[in-house]
Amino acid sequence: MTTIIKNGTIVTASDTVQADVLIDGEQVALIGRDLQADDAEVIDATGKLLLPGGIDVHTHLDLPFGGTIASDDFLTGHRAAAFGATTCHIDFVIQPMGGTLHEGVEEWHKKAEGKASIDYGFHIAITDLRDDVMEEIPTMIDEGITSLKLFMAYKGLFQIDDTTLFRAMLRAAEHGMLIMVHAENGDVIAELTKKLLNEGKTDTKYHAAAHPAMAEAEATGRAVALSGITGAPLYVVHMTCEEAVEQLALGRAKGFPVMGETCTQYMFVFEEHLALPNYEGAKYVCSPPVRKRKDAPVLWKALADNTLQAVSTDHCPFWFEGGKEGRIPGKELGRESFHQVPNGMPGIEDRMPVMWHHGVNMGRYSANRFVEITSTNPAKIFGLYPRKGTIAVGADADIVIWDPEKEHTISAKTHHMNTDYNVYEGMTVRGWPERVLLRGKTIVDGDAWLGQPGTGQFLKRSPGAEVL
Ligand code: URP
Ligand code: ZN
Ligand code: ZN
Repeated sequence: MTTIIKNGTIVTASDTVQADVLIDGEQVALIGRDLQADDAEVIDATGKLLLPGGIDVHTHLDLPFGGTIASDDFLTGHRAAAFGATTCHIDFVIQPMGGTLHEGVEEWHKKAEGKASIDYGFHIAITDLRDDVMEEIPTMIDEGITSLKLFMAYKGLFQIDDTTLFRAMLRAAEHGMLIMVHAENGDVIAELTKKLLNEGKTDTKYHAAAHPAMAEAEATGRAVALSGITGAPLYVVHMTCEEAVEQLALGRAKGFPVMGETCTQYMFVFEEHLALPNYEGAKYVCSPPVRKRKDAPVLWKALADNTLQAVSTDHCPFWFEGGKEGRIPGKELGRESFHQVPNGMPGIEDRMPVMWHHGVNMGRYSANRFVEITSTNPAKIFGLYPRKGTIAVGADADIVIWDPEKEHTISAKTHHMNTDYNVYEGMTVRGWPERVLLRGKTIVDGDAWLGQPGTGQFLKRSPGAEVL
């Protein structure tokens, strides 16, 4: 099948050019002026931008967590992602306690089987680093999994100690794998949580008090230092605040191979949301928590000046009113106390439009930088480039036909995520995906869903992450 997208303006991380794109099968075959091909389907993109499909490297689909399961699986999550211009994501496999990494990977492949309709990869989260698991780490490369995640928080569940982190880093450095950390001091959080509960402080607003910014900064600084000692490339996930960004910047200034991301919600949701009455605060409980308003400009600046390399979502949705009408349990599980609220927020569908509107339209960064932090850098850091992350000859034709003038008001009434609330409810954005192609096939056309469950491909990624 041949397709020509005519008269659009291609935006990549480096260039903005008016040109036609010829797609032969699943890849871009030619970029040029006035392209013609017999029998080609022609898509007219006059007045539209052509962006590489978004890549969200931090998602949790179908994750058992917080006494329930994240409410989007690979079916609903992929459809929602595509409606929001994201054509590829990387999800976190969790090593089962006492089990092997391969067992976790097998379980995640099963979750995606027959459901996937965009392309996807896996990171592996290590929860139990026994000697046999140390040996198993490099075998993940054969599985196409080249990034190892370690949680420095969630004591008694996922949290690892410094020995484990250090050993994993040494192993990663040896094999060209990338270390990712959830950087919060889990011991401090556990003690503060106990103290708050003893004082009868159970409201959702105390979630922020239990997770101070300095506990994130301390863990970030620790991971950065260990990366400096071991030489293991480090990617700090979901960075939220000035104090933590300072630690990353310090490591980068020293020449350590350290990078970081923030997530869309940290620029729009703040501590005061956790204090909303009628348990509404539970909608915004995630870890690390939403911070102070003063942190948002720091994150925007860090995204613009490359202190942070990417923006992802940490998509980990739960129903606000779950456990009824056929819904699995959700946020209502924490009504008794903040520490029992399932941690996480929806957002896989919202990242691209929200980051475009508030980033590009508001003059915080260029359209090229938008492409870089939402697609190109994720592809480069996680071993997918140049197959993914750009519009170039030979790349997968994951192309978003973006209408920079179209306005849309975000709402749970119209979104496709499997949740009953939207963090950006009522926000009007300008810039919207008109049509989304995955490997040359249209999967979203306006409001129509044309994707096919089972056609999303698992992406084997290469080791040797680029440090940007
Ligand atoms: O609250 C969050 N972030 N939930 C998902 C798990 C994690 O820590 O990324
Ligand atoms: Zn996390
Ligand atoms: Zn996460």
